[in-house]
This record gives sequence, structure tokens and C-alpha cells, in this order.
Amino acid sequence: MGQLRFSERGTGTAVVLLHGFPLTRAMWSGQVEPLAEAGYRVVMPDLRGHGESPAPDEVASMARHAKDVVELIDRLRLDRVMLGGLSLGGYVALELYRRHRDRIAALLLLDTRAEADTAEGRHQRRETITSIQEHGIGVLEAAMLPKLLTDRTRAERPVLTERVREMMRSTTARAAIRTLEGLAERPDQRDLLPTITVPTLVAVGAEDPITPSSVAEALAEAIPGAGPAVVIPEAAHLMPLESAEMFNPILLAFLRSLTP
Ligand code: MLT
Repeated sequence: MGQLRFSERGTGTAVVLLHGFPLTRAMWSGQVEPLAEAGYRVVMPDLRGHGESPAPDEVASMARHAKDVVELIDRLRLDRVMLGGLSLGGYVALELYRRHRDRIAALLLLDTRAEADTAEGRHQRRETITSIQEHGIGVLEAAMLPKLLTDRTRAERPVLTERVREMMRSTTARAAIRTLEGLAERPDQRDLLPTITVPTLVAVGAEDPITPSSVAEALAEAIPGAGPAVVIPEAAHLMPLESAEMFNPILLAFLRSLTP
């Protein structure tokens, strides 16, 4: 099956960060240095089917992704980690908590949700798959970019926008289809939420069209270990990349409250 490729920086308590679809570990470029400088060991895998990691040879289920990440945590001989995920990465983090809660000291749930896809959502995934099969992977970039970054960012920050395009271009059509199938069949995790007792940070971009702030607020309310959801202004779905300067102090304050 092959192992996940990853980058790491810094020493100290391990913080494992899982990117969203169809992106790569480069998504965390705004967090790496601040976290390493603050005394954390930041571990960033490319999820299966993304970046430099192996392609999925079957549906990329949340269970498969969670198994991959646990294997990485084992390989690095980490006992318990702080686990963060954005969107797809958050779905994987919840699945991993369900299966291996003893390995998780804290959760960061960013621009993500606990609900499974609705029937309409699954229908849209199938349409996207058909569209990729007929027209190529470029359709995904065209459809997703306006949801990942705000209009303002795309107009005024061409370098950052191009970096996001490059991440998306590293995903092949076959891997994107396998991932979309896995997203469509992912389990509903709402029953898990009342059992999450580790400290949890829920945050979301105020302009995220994929995960509206009301979804993040409901997620935070359902988790006993979470405070109120933090809504970061002037950011869409890729909030940590788009608004690192506003998000990082919140992230660091949360982590420091756990490791005095
Ligand atoms: C992501 O950013 O990982 C995707 O938007 C997740 C999804 O489509 O559900």
C-alpha cells in the first residue's frame, strides 16, 4: 500500500496536521515556523492520493486515511499527539479519534463538520466525478478555487493563489475520484461528538462556503472538550493559509493552554 510521505519541523510536543482535499501538506506553510519556534514538533503528511503520497488503489475511505495516519504516528514512535485537520483532514481526525482515542491528546477541527454527505451532496460528488472523467482534473480546480479563497484574496494575492493552484494540480484525476468516492461514503460522526473529552479547538473562516460558521458552532457545542467555535474574519475554506496572522495567535494560545 505504501507509506505516507510527510514533512516535519521543530522539536517538542507533536502536532500532526492533516490537509484538505485536493491539497497537500504545503497547506500548512503559514503555521510551520510559528509552531516550531514556539516549541512544537509539527508533522505534516500528504494524505493518500495527495501530494507525494501513494495513490489509493481503492476507495479512499476515512478508515483507510485514519489507518495511514496511525501508521505514521507509530513509525515516528509518537505516543499521543495533538491532531489537527482541515475539512477532509478533520473528517479523518474524527475517524481516528473513534478508533484510537488513546493516541490523541487534543483536537483541532478546522473548517470541517461531523455530518455525512446529504443525498444531494452525494449526487454532486457523482457529478463531479463524471465531469472529471469527461473533461479532466482541471474542472476540479475551476470549481473549488472560488470556495477555497475569498474573492479579495484571489484578486489581491496572486502568489498565494498560485500556490493553491499548484497544490491542486499535484492531484491526479484517478486519485481525486477515489477521494471523492471516500468523501461521499464517509460515516456520520455526530454520535461521537458527546464522547470527545480531549481539549478541542474548533475554528472556521467567516466566509467559508463549504463549512458555514453555523456548522462549526454546532460542532463545537456538541463536543464537551471544546470551547465556542472561533470564527476568523476575511477567510474562506482555506482559513489557516489565507488568514494565518489571525489564526496563529488563537492556535498558539490553545496549544499553550495545554502545555504550560
Ligand atoms: C476539503 O476541503 O477537504 C473538502 O472540501 C471536503 C469536502 O468536500 O467535503
